[in-house]
Amino acid sequence: MAKKSADYKLSDPGWMNDAELVRIVDEVRAAVSATAPASPPLAVLEVGCYAGRTTRALLTATPGLVISIDPLDRNRAMPRWPAPDGVWIETRRHMEALIAERGGGRLIVMPCFAEEVFDLVRPPLAALVIDTEHSYEPQVRQIDAWAPLVRDGGVIVFDDFDMEPVASAWRDCEYRRARQWLTCETFESLGIVRVAPQPRPVAQEAEQRICNPEGAGSSLAGPINEVSP
Ligand SMILES: C[S@@+](CC[C@H](N)C(=O)[O-])C[C@H]1O[C@@H](n2cnc3c(N)ncnc32)[C@H](O)[C@@H]1O
Repeated sequence: MAKKSADYKLSDPGWMNDAELVRIVDEVRAAVSATAPASPPLAVLEVGCYAGRTTRALLTATPGLVISIDPLDRNRAMPRWPAPDGVWIETRRHMEALIAERGGGRLIVMPCFAEEVFDLVRPPLAALVIDTEHSYEPQVRQIDAWAPLVRDGGVIVFDDFDMEPVASAWRDCEYRRARQWLTCETFESLGIVRVAPQPRPVAQEAEQRICNPEGAGSSLAGPINEVSP
């Protein structure tokens, strides 16, 4: 049956379109089960929630904890921000409703700038969703602060990956430079990185099979130059 985002589509102001929401839910769902096949599921961290459109989708995608960080009405300093009058009051109201409706301790909304809580929010993560101000330096800092917490099998999602500062931040951040094997797939305006351990080089595996045909793949098989003649 074709999936629809009807369960989590909001009439609230927000940026993600339907297709993006469906994709985020699919990716996060897969990441939650890959990172914690047994319960409890690892947390999902959202940075930049605005009026909670993505937050609701994330609550649908995991039976576990969602942490949403956004300065909300403290973000007046952002002059280009197109917040219509009253949206922040609506946001607070909406978040409170989400907590009450889905909550039971499953949603924590932190009314903070990301930078204020880099050291405070440190759980192991199934998913990290970054959709903040899309400028280069903050984006790099946000990735480097939180991407290392995403466990193998988890996922990192960027919105507006088609914007140059967002794509460059991913290209340049320390996290990715240390993990060249990770690639970022695009879908609509999303960038999606599935976190996986470094693959073993094919040549190394072939060498091990030649040197140790019976024990190929066993943990005792060492590199070729360590095998006795
Ligand atoms: C594009 S909106 C998020 C939209 C939401 N994900 C959606 O799809 O509806 C960006 C949000 O990032 C927040 N933001 C901007 N700078 C931030 C920062 N440094 N830390 C956390 N949130 C930030 C803004 O307050 C704003 O609500």
